[in-house]
Amino acid sequence: MTAPRLLGAPEVRPDIRPLDARRVAPASRVLIVSNRLPSTVRVDEGRVQLTPSAGGLATGLRGVHDAAGSTWIGWSGAPAELPSATRREIALRLAEVDALGVPIHGPEIAGFYQRFANGVLWPVLHDRDDHPDPDPDDWATYRAVNARFAAVVAEEARPGDRVWVHDYHLMLVPRLLRARRPDLRTGFFLHTPFPDSMASLPQRRTLLDGILGADVVGFHTPAYAARFGDAVRATLGRDVELASGAGFADDDGRAVSVHACPMSVDAAGFAARATDPRVIRRVQELRAAGGPLFVGVDRLDHTKGIPERLAAFERLLDERPELRGRARLLQLAVPSREDVPAYRELRARVEALVARVNRRFATLAWQPVTYVYGSVDEVELSAMYCAADVMLVTPLRDGMNLVAKEFVASRIDEKGVLVLGEHAGAAAELRAALLVDPRDAGELSRAYARALDMSPAERRVRMRRLRARVDAHDVRRWADECLALLGADLQASERRGPGR
Ligand code: ADP
Ligand code: G6P
Repeated sequence: MTAPRLLGAPEVRPDIRPLDARRVAPASRVLIVSNRLPSTVRVDEGRVQLTPSAGGLATGLRGVHDAAGSTWIGWSGAPAELPSATRREIALRLAEVDALGVPIHGPEIAGFYQRFANGVLWPVLHDRDDHPDPDPDDWATYRAVNARFAAVVAEEARPGDRVWVHDYHLMLVPRLLRARRPDLRTGFFLHTPFPDSMASLPQRRTLLDGILGADVVGFHTPAYAARFGDAVRATLGRDVELASGAGFADDDGRAVSVHACPMSVDAAGFAARATDPRVIRRVQELRAAGGPLFVGVDRLDHTKGIPERLAAFERLLDERPELRGRARLLQLAVPSREDVPAYRELRARVEALVARVNRRFATLAWQPVTYVYGSVDEVELSAMYCAADVMLVTPLRDGMNLVAKEFVASRIDEKGVLVLGEHAGAAAELRAALLVDPRDAGELSRAYARALDMSPAERRVRMRRLRARVDAHDVRRWADECLALLGADLQASERRGPGR
C-alpha cells in the first residue's frame, strides 16, 4: 500500500483526472453497501418476514435505492445458520427489493455487530469513552466480516459499477475492496459524527486507513470532515488539507477526496402526507385532550438524550404548575440493538423515569408522559409530527438526525416549534430552531417554556426558515451530490428505470 500524499487544494495534479459523471458507462450500476438493508428479515417458526428497517441510514437511502435502480448489499438481519430452504427464500425475498444478503453467523453477529461495531465503535464515534475495551477476538471478527462484504461486492460488481459503502460497520471495506477490484470507483459515507478523539480505540490506524481505500469520503458536516482530517494527520502521520475540493493522493495517482454532504429527507413526501385525510384524522385524535403537546421520536439509543429530555420535562412541570393537568409529552422509542447491554440498561432507565414523572404528577384525568416502545407506520409518524406543538430532538450527539428534518418537512401549516440539540448534525443547518445544550436540564426546560410562550408570528418565521432549508436540501439533492462525486448519475438511472 502506498502512502497518500497531500493534494493541495484546489490545485489538482494534472495526472489526477477529476471525475466526470458523463464518463460512466450507461450500463453501470450503483452498488449500495451497508450492514443494514432497507428491509430486515425475521424468521418466526420457519416463516420469513420482512419489515422496514429502522434508523436514518435505511429510511434515507430507501428512496435513493428505488430511484437509482441500485443493488443493495448488506446483512439480512437473520443469522446465517438456517435451513437451506429458508436461506433460499430469504435470498428470493431480498432479490424482490434488489437486495443481496451477506451471510453473517450467530457468533459473528455478537462479535462484529453487537460488541465491536455497537458496543465500542458507536460510542467512540459519539465521543463517549465509557465503552468496554475492544476484545481482540471481536476485532478479528469485525475484520473477517468486512473481508466477506468486500468479497461479495468484488464478486457482484461489473466493470464500471460504482460502489457506495456506508457507515462504521464497514470501515475496512473500501481498502479491502480496492485490493480485490482496483478498477472500481468507491465512495464511503459515514452516518455518525466524526469524534474529537479516537484515542480510546487501539484499532484507529487500521480503521482510518480502511476508509482511505475509497476514492470519495463523505460526512454530514464540514466539522466532521475537518476532524477526520485531524485524525488522519495525528494517527497516520499524513498531512491533509480538507478545504473544499481537497483530499489526498495515492502514489499511483489516485485521488481521495473528502466532502461534507448533509443527508436529508423526502421533503415533498412528508409535506404531501400532511394533507392525507388519515393523518388529519389522527392529528385531531392526538390533540383531542387539548393542552400543549410535546413529541419525541427516536430509536432507543443512548446518544439520543431521552433521559435528559424526560428530566427536563419533569422540571418544567415542577416550575410551571399551571401546566399540570394540561401539558403532555408523547415519546415514541423504536426498539434498537436490544442484545447490546448498554441498550438494555437505557431502556430500564427510560422506563423508570417515565414511571417517576407519571407517579409524581398524573391524576385520574391526565397522564403527563405517554411512552410507546415500538415502531409506528408512516401515517402515525406524520400525525405525530403534525400534532406536535413542540418537537423535542435533543440528542447528546448525532451524525445528522433525520427526525428533525422530517418534522420540519411535515409542518406545511408553519406551526410547531423545534427544540434541537446543538450537537446534532442537523443543527448546522437548522439554525432557526431553538438550539439547546441537551445535557443542561435547566436550559432544556427553559427552551420548552420558551417554545410554549413563543408568539405565533415568531413560530411562523422560524418554521418558514427551517422549511426553506429542508425543501432546498432534500434527500434527492444529497443523493445527487454524493452520486455525482462518485461518477454516477441518478437521473440517468431513472431514465433506465429501476432494477437495471
Ligand atoms: P438514527 O439513524 O440514529 O436512528 P435519525 O433521526 O437520523 O436517527 O433517523 C431515524 C429514522 O427512524 C427516521 O426516519 C424516523 O422517522 C424513524 N423512526 C424513529 N423512531 C421511529 C418509530 N418509533 N417508528 C417509526 N419510525 C421511527
Ligand atoms: C444509525 C446508524 C445506521 C444503523 C441505524 C439503525 O442510523 O448510522 O448504520 O443502521 O442506526 O441501527 P441498527 O443497529 O438497527 O442497524
